[in-house]
Amino acid sequence: MTAAIEIRAVEKRFGNVSIIRDLNLSIEQGERHAIIGPNGAGKSTTFNLVSGHIRPTSGEIRLNGDVISGLRPFEINRRGLSRSFQVTNVFARMTVWENIRCAVLWATGHRYAFWKNVDDLPEVRRRTAEILESIHLTHRRDVPAGLLTYAEQRELEIGITIAGGADVIMLDEPTAGMSNMETDRAVTLIRRLTEGRTLVIVEHDMSVVFGLADRISVLVYGHIIASGTPEEIRNDPKVKEAYLGEEAH
Ligand SMILES: Nc1ncnc2c1ncn2[C@@H]1O[C@H](COP(=O)(O)OP(=O)(O)O)[C@@H](O)[C@H]1O
Ligand SMILES: [Mg+2]
Repeated sequence: MTAAIEIRAVEKRFGNVSIIRDLNLSIEQGERHAIIGPNGAGKSTTFNLVSGHIRPTSGEIRLNGDVISGLRPFEINRRGLSRSFQVTNVFARMTVWENIRCAVLWATGHRYAFWKNVDDLPEVRRRTAEILESIHLTHRRDVPAGLLTYAEQRELEIGITIAGGADVIMLDEPTAGMSNMETDRAVTLIRRLTEGRTLVIVEHDMSVVFGLADRISVLVYGHIIASGTPEEIRNDPKVKEAYLGEEAH
């Protein structure tokens, strides 16, 4: 089977500094893959490389077998990859409904035009309502996104990320800053909404990682030091060493 994402020998330099070094990673279709590693290891940079927000200095990235490195973010999105950002990225002054509708419109190929009342499109309205329901924010639909609680904003963001129906979903620390209860809720949400799709998740909470992922990759100084099932990662001496090193600091 063709991999959903294939990263081959990717390097990324900022100036003279190699932030990503000889990165190789293959993620199967339908797999839930977690990327973990210390702060500054290059996890978000890896996301930026795959989603086209930055270009590799060298190497190649494929999505469902097609080379995507060099394409722009919206082109990669059109091919079925959607991502969230580590920092909350909703339109604060737009309502919850408008935020989701905006993502649905974009995904269904509608362009905004001020003279069109986009709420009149039944298909858009139906899909927007469906997503709102699935992220449990129907009762907040008319609230400006900036007035939601932090956890609700992150849930809205997950809704925006999946709204387009992309089959590869990348979430960068979706539960950061959440309480244990909010994290549990978010994980249930993520599990349900990405059912049957490929999920790549950067996550610092190890109980989330080990509970959710089919496979885990450990990134240290821009290089994957281990990749495998949760069981394999748990027992990998290189991983233990990297994390013990962390704790010692
Ligand atoms: N645009 C950039 N220019 C220069 N350095 C960057 C840029 N983006 C990230 N970095 C550096 O790359 C390293 C990895 O960052 P990042 O990918 O955000 O790490 P992580 O998400 O694993 O915490 C950090 O040292 C960061 O300072
Ligand atoms: Mg990061």
